Amino acid sequence: MKHPLFSHHHPVTPEMRAARNRQKPFIIWFTGLSGSGKSTLAGQLELLLHEKGFRTFLLDGDNVRLGLNGDLGLSPADRRENIRRVGEVAKLFLDAGITVLCAFITPYEKERRALKEKFGERITIIHLTTPLELCRQRDPKGLYADWQKGRIKGLTGLDAPFEHSESTDVQLDTSTITADEGARSLFERLFGQPHC
Ligand code: ADX
Repeated sequence: MKHPLFSHHHPVTPEMRAARNRQKPFIIWFTGLSGSGKSTLAGQLELLLHEKGFRTFLLDGDNVRLGLNGDLGLSPADRRENIRRVGEVAKLFLDAGITVLCAFITPYEKERRALKEKFGERITIIHLTTPLELCRQRDPKGLYADWQKGRIKGLTGLDAPFEHSESTDVQLDTSTITADEGARSLFERLFGQPHC
């Protein structure tokens, strides 16, 4: 049986925390294949925002799975739960008045759409559309090589799906740009002004 629970409103509100941080916090969520550049670009964009005086935090797939989500695997149900929990953590960061960058494969359209519904204008979803072949060449974690050798199964983009995305706000192919160029271009897209 479910216990009765009550949402408690405390004297210090999310608006007061945001005002103290002098910012309107929001979420920048990166989705895309392993090797598409999510962590690198999220890190570079966070650096840019940090230099501009934003208060930020970066939630990154592997780091979160090494801690909070260490009990989750890579089945479809666990991937969904991974994204649901990260969405809840991101909500806590927003309430704390902090801009949060999230780098997760996020392979299912239903979860991406749920994030849009939950956060509305307070989230921008960026799809890194870097082609699979280039992700395979980069192979920063050796996952594609492991898959090729039959050591792992269920690798997103090969024998596990990355669903077609209609809910993303920005598409960016990192094939021919540096992380710094990508971060600057995203900054312009998000804030409508060049980074200088
Ligand atoms: S998600 O599907 O739930 O959004 P997440 O962003 O947390 O994925 O990333 C899973 C991480 O597990 C990847 O960054 C990668 O390093 C690692 N990984 C290990 N095996 C796989 C696999 N078969 N498919 C995808 N990622 C894998």
